[in-house]
Amino acid sequence: MKNLSNSSDYIIIKAIEDGVNVIGLTRGSDTKFHHNEKLDKGEVMIAQFTEHTSAIKVRGEAKIYTSIAELNSEISK
Ligand code: TRP
Repeated sequence: MKNLSNSSDYIIIKAIEDGVNVIGLTRGSDTKFHHNEKLDKGEVMIAQFTEHTSAIKVRGEAKIYTSIAELNSEISK
């Protein structure tokens, strides 16, 4: 993997409910979904920003840990 300045950052997502989606979005001029990982309650995904992935969307209730913040994603009801 190319050593882009932002490419080695890790993100940890821990699902608080079943069916949390972790969606990878492409790097470059068009931003598209390229991967959708479904997590059930308690499951953890450890991911990096890469040459192919510039953004990550989390849908559902989860704890998200990054070097800049620890936060919860929520579903508004
Ligand atoms: N093939 C993807 C990539 O190397 C895998 C990936 C990395 C990914 N980080 C991600 C998928 C975050 C979803 C979310 O970029």
